[in-house]
Amino acid sequence: MKITIFGTGYVGLVTGACLADVGHDVLCVDVDADKIARLESGEIPIFEPGLEELVNTNAAAGRLSFTTDAVAAVEFGTLQFIAVGTPPDEDGSADLQYVLAVAETIGRHMNGFKAVVDKSTVPVGTADRVRETIANVLEERGETLDFDVCSNPEFLKEGAAIEDFTHGARFVVGTDSERVRELMRECYAPYIRLQEKLMFMDVRAAELTKYAANAMLATKISFINEIANLAERLGADVEQVRRGIGSDPRIGYHFIYPGCGYGGSCFPKDVRALARTAGEVQYQAQLLEAVEGVNHRQKQTLFEKLERAFDGDLAGRTIALWGLAFKPNTDDMRDAPSRTLMEALWRAGARVQAYDPEAMEECHRLYGDRDDLALVDAREAAVENADALVICTEWKVFRMVDFGWLKQQLGLPVIVDGRNLYDPETVRKAGLLYFAVGRGDSLRRP
Ligand code: UDX
Repeated sequence: MKITIFGTGYVGLVTGACLADVGHDVLCVDVDADKIARLESGEIPIFEPGLEELVNTNAAAGRLSFTTDAVAAVEFGTLQFIAVGTPPDEDGSADLQYVLAVAETIGRHMNGFKAVVDKSTVPVGTADRVRETIANVLEERGETLDFDVCSNPEFLKEGAAIEDFTHGARFVVGTDSERVRELMRECYAPYIRLQEKLMFMDVRAAELTKYAANAMLATKISFINEIANLAERLGADVEQVRRGIGSDPRIGYHFIYPGCGYGGSCFPKDVRALARTAGEVQYQAQLLEAVEGVNHRQKQTLFEKLERAFDGDLAGRTIALWGLAFKPNTDDMRDAPSRTLMEALWRAGARVQAYDPEAMEECHRLYGDRDDLALVDAREAAVENADALVICTEWKVFRMVDFGWLKQQLGLPVIVDGRNLYDPETVRKAGLLYFAVGRGDSLRRP
């Protein structure tokens, strides 16, 4: 099957590579000529485990190619995936200019039937706007060509995107056209051993499914973070509570890990965008607003714990930071808790010494060279001559630590752990203060 994918960002590239890998002919198109040139030479612009090999093997086999030529791209596939970015507007709603620009391009150059597939995360009602845009261009051209628009949201996690694509819980397709259903069946057939895995539904239901899934997961995280904050004040270990509630299958163990707040390119943006969409239909999404509010507050807790440990005086201190990415196995720092922390530390006059296995370059890109930030190449170098240690990301390399050694490194024997990596007793026995989330010395009432 011939498939065109607009947008070689995270979603477009993973989708393109995975579809090529099962034998489809895929053409990826982007307006960024530099990016396309790099992809053609085998360079992958993002860090995602397994993606480089998948892209390059399929490109070498001739099943995956790249272009900036929009005319050729529209000509190529019967399926035209739109996988361009939908960055948040100032007010939190998704900016659709790139999606609609692709729709316009498709309308401008199509010469026969096209099934347009909305893959980008877009607000409910966008498929209708894409349809309208294409129809208007065709009318301008004086053409009456047949086309259809469906919604096919993605559920990929960064760091596990290929696994999520190939072994995900479901493929959701929103359409009212039998012809599109047939095409999408063919597109995903290699991945669908279980018939129920391909879920057809109405267009608007598919669009809302994407937001509802992310909002539900974000809600679980904010919920457990709220319980952790309560636990701190009540003297209860939230990790024990987590196991206690997770054992009920109606609640489950997934996504109830307390931490320093969710980040990344999806949860923060999607929760805000859905709340914003609610406002547009005169509904106040109280729960979504609270989920966002709790998360915002949670990201401040690392700094607050440090402040408490240093009696409010952080000026001139050096704080070691393990983990910059919003989660392990990615170099992504979008909305990462580490950023909230670093920025607060700088405002307080402290210095940061940071190490992350993948996100160092990204951190440098974001903050540049500055006196109060040292990006070092190992976790050991980060704690050298530091006053305290903060853990923002649960990378595997941070899990095993010789606490006796760590105590010797740190000026004040303090670990602020935003990911609950260690056993509080072990840390305490080594003579360190351990401020974790809803456990450890955080339980001591102020
Ligand atoms: C998420 C969804 O999981 C995915 O299905 C969707 O398509 C895009 O958004 P992603 O943003 O890549 O994926 O990361 P995810 O692994 O879901 O983690 C999101 C954030 O939540 C991270 O900051 C993580 O640290 C945090 N988190 C996750 C918790 O704090 N506690 C948990 O129990 C789980």
